[in-house]
Amino acid sequence: MSNMLEVADLGHTYGDHEAIGGLSFTVRAGELVCVVGPSGCGKSTLLRTISGLVAPSRGDVSLHGSHLAVVFQDYSRSLFPWLSVQGNVEFPLRSLPRAERRARAAEALEWVGLGGAARKRPWQLSGGMQQRVAIARALAYRPSLLLMDEPFASVDAQTRFELEDLLLRVRREHDTTVLVVTHDIDESVYLGDRILVLSGSPARLVADLEVPLPAERDQVTTRTDEAFVELRSKVARLLNVGKPTMDVEKWAAAERESLSETVSS
Ligand SMILES: Nc1ncnc2c1ncn2[C@@H]1O[C@H](COP(=O)(O)OP(=O)(O)O)[C@@H](O)[C@H]1O
Ligand SMILES: [Mg+2]
Repeated sequence: MSNMLEVADLGHTYGDHEAIGGLSFTVRAGELVCVVGPSGCGKSTLLRTISGLVAPSRGDVSLHGSHLAVVFQDYSRSLFPWLSVQGNVEFPLRSLPRAERRARAAEALEWVGLGGAARKRPWQLSGGMQQRVAIARALAYRPSLLLMDEPFASVDAQTRFELEDLLLRVRREHDTTVLVVTHDIDESVYLGDRILVLSGSPARLVADLEVPLPAERDQVTTRTDEAFVELRSKVARLLNVGKPTMDVEKWAAAERESLSETVSS
């Protein structure tokens, strides 16, 4: 399999704050790779540097494909309220002839199950539906690489499951290469072919793990599969290792113990 994305010794510093501390990894064509790491560790910064929104302080990003689309967490700010759903999906396709633009947007809305909502405004839809519009907009662009930044973090748990399955279905049907950033360990195991585990700030690569689960996944059976449970524990342990802060619970327990020893002696 050829590489779609190569990231080499990528580092980024805001003022004197080092957000990313030198990351190297590759994403192969057709792969779905999840990046998991604690809040504030530099995940969004990583996506911003890959997408070219931010110039990295050091290192290289090579994308082997011309098209790139990004889906953000905050769908309420990423959709234009004055445009219809169809208009939002067509927006990045402005350079195409009108008929093709229309056809592509209509097709992408069908893929995400929103064929009937094309004429509505985003604010007339639920949060989960709005995020589906954002996904349709990204897919209509036919990106070589789809970047997603905590795409399901702002919807309720049930909708989140539905959107995760939607993502798995469309990437399978359209062979899309996807890089998803999440702070949710279970989500990273459920979605990923591979998981990149990042340490706390500045983000460094703690592990690059293959997900030993079949491509077909199911919210009930996959999440209770032994391989799933094992891997989520492994990622959780790795994230704790990466954390620079102390474990408050452990610290409090140790304090209580030393206090009771002092009192009883
Ligand atoms: N534009 C910015 N200017 C200065 N500091 C920033 C900026 N964006 C993010 N940071 C800081 O960089 C660190 C990483 O942020 P971010 O990439 O958003 O983390 P994550 O997405 O993992 O939560 C945080 O400490 C954050 O406060
Ligand atoms: Mg973020």
